[in-house]
Amino acid sequence: MTTETFEPKSIVVTGGCGFIGSNFVHHVVRERPGVHVTVLDKLTYAGNPENIACLPADRVELVVGDICDAELVDRLVSEADAVVHYAAESHNDNSIADPSPFLKTNVRGTYTLIEACRKHDVRYHHVSTDEVYGDLALDDPARFTEETPYRPSSPYSSTKAASDMLVRAWVRTFGLRATISNCSNNYGPYQHVEKFIPRQITNLIDGVRPKLYGDGKNVRDWIHTEDHSSAVWAILTRGRIGETYLIGADGERDNITVLREILKAFGRDADDFDWVRDRPGHDRRYAIDSTKLRRELGWEPQRIDFAAGLAETIAWYRANESWWRPAKEATEARYRAQGQ
Ligand code: NAD
Ligand code: TYD
Repeated sequence: MTTETFEPKSIVVTGGCGFIGSNFVHHVVRERPGVHVTVLDKLTYAGNPENIACLPADRVELVVGDICDAELVDRLVSEADAVVHYAAESHNDNSIADPSPFLKTNVRGTYTLIEACRKHDVRYHHVSTDEVYGDLALDDPARFTEETPYRPSSPYSSTKAASDMLVRAWVRTFGLRATISNCSNNYGPYQHVEKFIPRQITNLIDGVRPKLYGDGKNVRDWIHTEDHSSAVWAILTRGRIGETYLIGADGERDNITVLREILKAFGRDADDFDWVRDRPGHDRRYAIDSTKLRRELGWEPQRIDFAAGLAETIAWYRANESWWRPAKEATEARYRAQGQ
């Protein structure tokens, strides 16, 4: 299959102070010397300017603002060759406690960006999640593909699904030059302590017992965030307009297995954790078939050794306590109030 190569010189990365967005900005600065990045980020509780502060000022500019601010978005988009959209309210548990910001940022924010991209004919890449497909049974041999019907379960995943649908409609009706990717669960440095892996690592550093939801058998398909970044770059520059690509690294593991790997790394007993209240509507299993991305664009994940990636991630949290410490107490207070 022939694919044209698109070579952007100036890109807007929304949510570039969050976990995956900031790892993508690091990736672009390191791998693509000719590209200038403008980060548009509202700096919510999940955004931290420290994540990109060490990058050269002539390569990366931070604009603090909201993706729902149409005037600001219009100006930034008019000056760019492409937009890569990561900004979102991203945590399922928060979406159950209060769905409202998810509607605004994930749906209205995406609408604001694609309207500006349409007006200025700027290429747009939409970063989404495999959670739009709902879940699979533990004993189901199937994995998600680009043809799997949408069946989101949570306020988070339903707003991400809505945003994907807007992009698809804008491609078809207005000729928006867009691509979409749906990726599985990421792990790596700079992930907020509310998420599963960093929460357990930082609990253990604090001498607190890790917390496992439900029966611990829920399966997530883990990918190192660096592999997500290389896939997004491949799709942005070589993907076909209007197409969706699933991103995954064959990393299915149940939560209790991941937790026991973390406990082992801390020299703790395999049962040294607390069972806590399950998440309402908790998706059972996610699994990605990324054949299309691999065949069409030749992408392959590089960081497939999960044990090594986890060890590095643990080392990162040990070495960067000043990065996560300010968010830890409030996060745990929120979980305690929810019985989790
Ligand atoms: P995150 O919560 O760590 O970061 C989100 C970033 O967006 C923060 O910097 C925040 O300040 C910013 N933001 C939020 N609302 C904004 C607004 N209205 N205007 C401007 N900026 C705003 O999220 P993440 O885990 O890095 O996820 C990034 C993207 O990747 C999301 O779109 C998410 O749906 C998608 N995704 C995440 C995963 C995962 O495992 N975390 C997997 C697949 C896809
Ligand atoms: P999470 O990191 O919130 O990602 P997502 O819900 O988007 O998959 O959670 C990953 C899995 O870990 C999910 O099955 C819920 C579970 N989980 C726990 O068991 N304990 C926890 O403290 C957290 C935060 C999550």
